[in-house]
Amino acid sequence: MRYKHIPRLAFMSAVLLLPVTSNVWALNLLDEKEELGKHLFFDKNLSTPAGQACADCHGARVGFTGPDQFINAGGAVYEGAVHGRFGNRKPPAAAYAGDSPILSYDESKAEWVGGMFWDGRATGSTLGDPLAEQAQGPFLNPLEQNNANAQAVIDKVMASPYQDLFLRVCTDNAKLYECIGRSIAAFERSPEVSRYTSKYDYWLKGKAKLTGQEQRGMELFNGKAKCASCHAAPLFTNYSYDNLGVPKNPKNPFYLEPEWNPDGKNWIDAGLGGFLKASGREESVYGPEWGKQKVPTLRNVDKRPFKHFVKAYGHNGYFKSLHELVHFYNTRDVPGAGWPAPEVAENVNKTELGNLGLTHGEEHAIVKFLKTLSDGYDPKD
Ligand code: HEC
Ligand code: HEC
Repeated sequence: MRYKHIPRLAFMSAVLLLPVTSNVWALNLLDEKEELGKHLFFDKNLSTPAGQACADCHGARVGFTGPDQFINAGGAVYEGAVHGRFGNRKPPAAAYAGDSPILSYDESKAEWVGGMFWDGRATGSTLGDPLAEQAQGPFLNPLEQNNANAQAVIDKVMASPYQDLFLRVCTDNAKLYECIGRSIAAFERSPEVSRYTSKYDYWLKGKAKLTGQEQRGMELFNGKAKCASCHAAPLFTNYSYDNLGVPKNPKNPFYLEPEWNPDGKNWIDAGLGGFLKASGREESVYGPEWGKQKVPTLRNVDKRPFKHFVKAYGHNGYFKSLHELVHFYNTRDVPGAGWPAPEVAENVNKTELGNLGLTHGEEHAIVKFLKTLSDGYDPKD
């Protein structure tokens, strides 16, 4: 159970008389493997050309998602180490992802569950850990850190100031790259990244009180608005996949990258269905999943460095505020609401969203509740 981290943090803060919100960053809470993962996560030399770290697309101050508000306000996808090469999706949070199981089909629920990435393609079946498997990807992705191969990454780590730590943690010469992935995953699971220090977490422990509006928002979240059926507490995801009918983000620079995207403006993001097709499954398997994206965690969904800092929401960053997104859930299918067509027309979920009948005040209360999920809450507030 992930809550084992809370006492550890609470203990540190009590002993050192520091609020957990301030300098957790500087405190040495990590074991050696997690510490190595931290170096790897922040090292800008592990790209070709040098200059891009994991953290450049997964910034701590925004809950380990896209840290640049100008990018978020537009295409919402990030440029890789090579100038002009953009990925095609918005970075999801690298925090709180560690409990996603290996991608598999749940016969009883008739749905796919688990894996990493919006489309589940880091399945976890190679390393037995989707998070560790995911962490091996970006270093070698030509649209991200663009290293030629795993050995190139290992060579750079061997030439780094934390070479000693690397050799202490990664002792099996045949599995150095695997160890790199596992160490990053250990850091992402550590209390420095997956912190469980939101107002909601303090509330769970009886150490904070929700306001009336937050309480009302939570009740709606669990009830009338149906959010909890996919965003289940305490991680606020059930690791399943759905097509919400999110519109295209026309500002996505990927539309203008012929070298990587031969379909140009007609490209659509088929999500899980696209991955299942590419991995050789039959149409009867991938067809029903076409356009479905992984249910993201809602932890830190409102975490931002200052009030009007822009974050982007959804797999393509179409939404620029939580209000806009909740309004979409509420009114997508209401005649005259004016939402653009879905990016993928197949398999749009018509039963759990689209016309929830929420009042303006109820939408507002749900947003207030979402704001309680940001780490770094000070229980004295
Ligand atoms: C150029 C920006 C960029 C860089 C650099 C980058 N990422 Fe990502 N990351 C993304 C995007 C975009 C996605 C979603 C991609 C997709 O779903 O196809 C993602 C997905 C993820 C996920 C999946 C989360 C989930 O819930 O599915 C994790 C974890 C993650 N990245 C960690 C890392 C780590 C670790 C590194 C460094 C080794 C890294 N990222 C480097 C942009 C980036
Ligand atoms: C049927 C399952 C389902 C239900 C019900 C649901 N969601 Fe989602 N949610 C998703 C999926 C899937 C995505 C990603 C969709 C995409 O980008 O195409 C998502 C994305 C989000 C995001 C964006 C997070 C990010 O990091 O980009 C927020 C915020 C969110 N949902 C909040 C809510 C709220 C609030 C409710 C209730 C009003 C709700 N969801 C109901 C499945 C669901």
